[in-house]
Parts: sequence; C-alpha cells; structure tokens
Amino acid sequence: MKNKSFFKGKVAWITGASSGIGEALVNELAKREAIIIASSNDLAGLERVKAGCSGHSENISCVPFDLADTSGLSQIVDKQISRFGRIDYLINLGGISQRARIDETPLWLDRKIFEVNYFGTITLSKAVLPHMINQKSGHILATSSISGRFGFPLRSAYSASKQALHGFIETLYLENKKNNLRASVIIPGRVRTAISIHALNAEGKEYGKLDEGQANGITPNQAALTIIKGIIRNKREILVGSSELIMLHIRRYFPWLFFRIADRIKST
Ligand SMILES: NC(=O)c1ccc[n+]([C@@H]2O[C@H](COP(=O)([O-])OP(=O)(O)OC[C@H]3O[C@@H](n4cnc5c(N)ncnc54)[C@H](OP(=O)(O)O)[C@@H]3O)[C@@H](O)[C@H]2O)c1
Repeated sequence: MKNKSFFKGKVAWITGASSGIGEALVNELAKREAIIIASSNDLAGLERVKAGCSGHSENISCVPFDLADTSGLSQIVDKQISRFGRIDYLINLGGISQRARIDETPLWLDRKIFEVNYFGTITLSKAVLPHMINQKSGHILATSSISGRFGFPLRSAYSASKQALHGFIETLYLENKKNNLRASVIIPGRVRTAISIHALNAEGKEYGKLDEGQANGITPNQAALTIIKGIIRNKREILVGSSELIMLHIRRYFPWLFFRIADRIKST
C-alpha cells in the first residue's frame, strides 16, 4: 500500500460515513491506522461501518448528528477537540441529492437541500477552522459533484448547493494558506452508491430508485482510493469517476456543445 504511513495517528473526521463513499473512506483510512470520527445522522449505520473495520474499530468513534440541524455543532466539535486534541482532516461527504424539476420543487425543499449540503457542511467547517488555525495545520475538504460545475436537469437545488461549496472552499483556502491550512473540493462523477435512492422528489420524499448513472459508476472503494491519493498530493480539486468526467471539460472549453447535449443525457 503506497504512502501507508501518511494517515497513521492522524485524526480524520468524515461526515456521510454511514454509507457509500464515506463508508469506503472510513474502511480505507482505518486500514491506514488513522483515528477516525465517523458522522452521519444514522448511529446504527455508523456502528455497522465501525464493526466492519475489523482489527481497527477501536480507532473509530461514532458521532451522529443531523447536518440539517446545526444548532449543537460547535459543542460537538469542542467535545471532539477535548477528546483528541486536534483534527487533521475534515472530510465533508454528507449530502443529499434531488430528482425534481424546478417548476415542481417548493422553496422549502430548495432550502432543505441547502441546509444539508451547504449550511451543514460550512457550519461544521467553520467550527473546526479555528482549531486548525491554532494548530497551524489541517485539511478541510467538501464534496461537490460534476453537477456542482454545471446545471443539470432535476438537480436545481443540488447543483446550486454544490456550486456554493466551491466558493466557500476556495475562499477558505485563499484566506488560510498563510496559516498552513489546506482545502480541497472533491468532485465525484458517478459512483455506485445509494445517493439517487435517497434523493428527494418534489414532495420531499425519497426518490427510491438506483439511477442507471450510479449503477454503472465506479465503486465506492475506487472513489475512496482516488480521494486518498488527492489528499496526499494536496490537490485543490479531486476528480472522482470515469468517462463522465469529460463533461467538465466540455462545459469549460466547449460551452455551446454542453448546452446542446446536456439535456439529452439520461438524468435518472
Ligand atoms: N454517488 C455519486 O454518484 C455522487 C456523485 C456526485 C456527488 N456525490 C456526493 O458524494 C457524497 C457522498 O454521497 P454517496 O454517493 O456516498 O451517497 P450515500 O451513500 O447516500 O451517502 C450519503 C451520506 O450522507 C449522509 N447524510 C445525508 N443526509 C444527512 C443529514 N441530514 N445529516 C447527516 N448526514 C446525512 C448519509 O447518512 P444518513 O445515514 O444519516 O442519511 C450518508 O452517510 C454526497 O455529498 C454526494 O452529493 C455522489
């Protein structure tokens, strides 16, 4: 295993740790002997992930909270700091997707998706940041999406909330590189997880289907290994996926082509 000792003894806080990419990242960082704080809103799911890391589970603490309810987050952060003394990596993976057109999406649903994807992520990051500034080191990552780089049918609030994270993380980096901090955005394309199943429809209920895109995506484990490589190489943007990532280049260099074809790509 390359760079095996890179994460040994480092404190890594992972949100979205109860399934998908977050679960795979917990497994991989546990193997690398990191000290892991695993968070999501599902304690039973976190305990299952912890139990699955045989031989390393004593290094994993389950800290559940709802990203949509940030009122107690700073106390949660203070508790982890007094327990571990520091946070070396904050890897924000928790998030929720959407499968509803703009004209059928009520405003409360736009706000709900922003609460989880944007405000939950930045509240936790802002609570951890002063501790990283104090310790003069640390790496904060937030997870966007390829549709955080462009609009995409049925994903208006999702795309917008992910685009907002780019502005936040880039600013955090520019303000804090003098403090020796690192900041990166993870940009997944299609990864075989339950993200589409848990996506919210126009009524705010689970969409409940595994989309073709996710079904044909890379595995969560491949995604986790790419993220680990990106962290080690200190990449500002960590691209995670396969051939679908070409859409990022098409949007950037051939926008006319993007707008001609993007609505013909299967969005469910
Ligand atoms: N899979 C893809 O193709 C893909 C593509 C682009 C971007 N992404 C992004 O990658 C990240 C990880 O997603 P995934 O693919 O691994 O999907 P996933 O398996 O559905 O994982 C989502 C994670 O977010 C957590 N979460 C959702 N709502 C929460 C809330 N209110 N409070 C706390 N935790 C919450 C879930 O935990 P609970 O058990 O508590 O619900 C779960 O652990 C997400 O930010 C997603 O937007 C994924």
